[in-house]
Amino acid sequence: MEKAYKERIVYQIYPSSFYDSNNDGWGDLKGITEKLDYLKDLGVGIIWLSPIYASPMYDMGYDISDYKAINPRFGTMEDFDCLLHEANIRDIKIVMDLVLNHSSSENKWFLEAINNPTTKYRNYYYFEKGKGRNAKRPPNNWQSIFVGSAWEPLVQDPTIYYLHLYCKEQVDLNYHCEDLVKDIEDIMKFWLDKGVYGFRCDAVCNLYKTSLANGKHRIVQTGREFYEDQEGLHTLLRKLRKDVLNNYDTFMVGEVPSATVDISNDYIKNKEFEMVFTFEHQNVDKGRFIPTIKRFYRPRNLLKILFKYQEGCAYCANYLENHDQLRSVSRFVKEKYRNEGAKAYSMLLLTLKGTPFLYQGQEIGMTNLSEEPKKVEDSRDVVVTNIYNLARKFHFPKKLALRITKHMNRDNERTPMQWNDSVNAGFNKGWKPWLGVNTNYLDKHINVKDEAEDHDSIYNFYKDMIKFRNESEILKKGTFVRLKSHKDVAKFVRTYKGHKLLIVINLSSHKIADNDKIDRKMLLSNYRQDFIKMMPPYFCAIYEIA
Ligand code: GLC
Repeated sequence: MEKAYKERIVYQIYPSSFYDSNNDGWGDLKGITEKLDYLKDLGVGIIWLSPIYASPMYDMGYDISDYKAINPRFGTMEDFDCLLHEANIRDIKIVMDLVLNHSSSENKWFLEAINNPTTKYRNYYYFEKGKGRNAKRPPNNWQSIFVGSAWEPLVQDPTIYYLHLYCKEQVDLNYHCEDLVKDIEDIMKFWLDKGVYGFRCDAVCNLYKTSLANGKHRIVQTGREFYEDQEGLHTLLRKLRKDVLNNYDTFMVGEVPSATVDISNDYIKNKEFEMVFTFEHQNVDKGRFIPTIKRFYRPRNLLKILFKYQEGCAYCANYLENHDQLRSVSRFVKEKYRNEGAKAYSMLLLTLKGTPFLYQGQEIGMTNLSEEPKKVEDSRDVVVTNIYNLARKFHFPKKLALRITKHMNRDNERTPMQWNDSVNAGFNKGWKPWLGVNTNYLDKHINVKDEAEDHDSIYNFYKDMIKFRNESEILKKGTFVRLKSHKDVAKFVRTYKGHKLLIVINLSSHKIADNDKIDRKMLLSNYRQDFIKMMPPYFCAIYEIA
């Protein structure tokens, strides 16, 4: 039998924003359990849960204080076991987010390490003496991915610094330490023994540091040559595979922002990951050197990258959005064609070769924030706060400092799920949500209930597409061959055991001529009719061909 991850579609849940069953403003595990039937009906086979572990939530759970405990905000371990059980009954598998690069500064390992310098936990992290007179300067010039120096002086002894590639409450773990590796293996076993299907490995490419020397000076991420995709990481991943993962039916997907086709294949071909999340396509509309600046989006640039991976990568993890990336309809589709456009991109996602990952709310075409934050305190994203503070340090006026965070603000894609047209979009029973609900659940009817009632909705198209994919051996297992077409059109053939599907998607807001002589039978389209010579904006279709 084929592995489940090759057969099913994955749905990412951002627990804080999915469904708040106890009306305290935060989504929770019971809320997810209540919505399992919704997910089953949508055709979801695997859920990826963003972190639900105990955490002070400086970075929304990606700062774990106890890897074997549930954050009380989301519920209890019994709630988790119940979710797993109920998901199992519905044949839905659950994948956890595994944050290995860093722990929270409130993790007991770190607390031990700073309170007792002779404990073994001191080796779990990187502690270094500062440079210069009175050790006033950090140990090296590395920059944090979340802005500023990657080093923070200890409160207890400011001449000693610790390393943090993300925010200062996320302390980098030291994988040269064997005891730490044992603890990590133990954590993985703990969740796999409970019946979890696998892991999404957060920020994994940065895990292994080969040196703490000064890095080559860069606009962002100075120091990266000493930690990105190092050989030591490959060795470590193979050890985790051998010691832990090989004993289970499981899969791992690595988050690798530095990925190229070759780097992805290094991870996949050595069976370190079944697949990796790559980022090149996510950068199509971001400034090359300064990511806070938005570039004009052209579908051809997205396609060029996606197709490069389709053709060169041993296996693909396909996604258009997640909890770190802006909503794809807001990014890639002209507002006037929201409905057709969201469907076109849904067809792209679900017909490419590899495993499709859908992010909560994508199936109803949820959009970026309806209202920009007016002051920095309105934002819940640590990245916004950090960029803002840096800009202020350089005397940017407050308004401008906030404006430059606009395209980096991850609150955009984290607003509560829009279930219906009642208070707070049905996310809960009326308590103020941790992050404001997008107002378009009412004025534009972007909510599950209204979408489900409308035959022509984005939601119903997603459902049809997912069903089509779930039932199609060709889409799940077939080869991928791209055909010549206009640059903004995705045109490719998937083939399995001699059966062929032709996919044609106009990803632009323009009409595009397509004089196709191929004898074809249309199976699914967002326009419900074929256009032989001229495709309307965002037209998409799947055809059976001989
Ligand atoms: C990953 C997560 C992101 C988090 C970061 C640090 O990129 O997806 O949300 O902020 O790692 O853990």
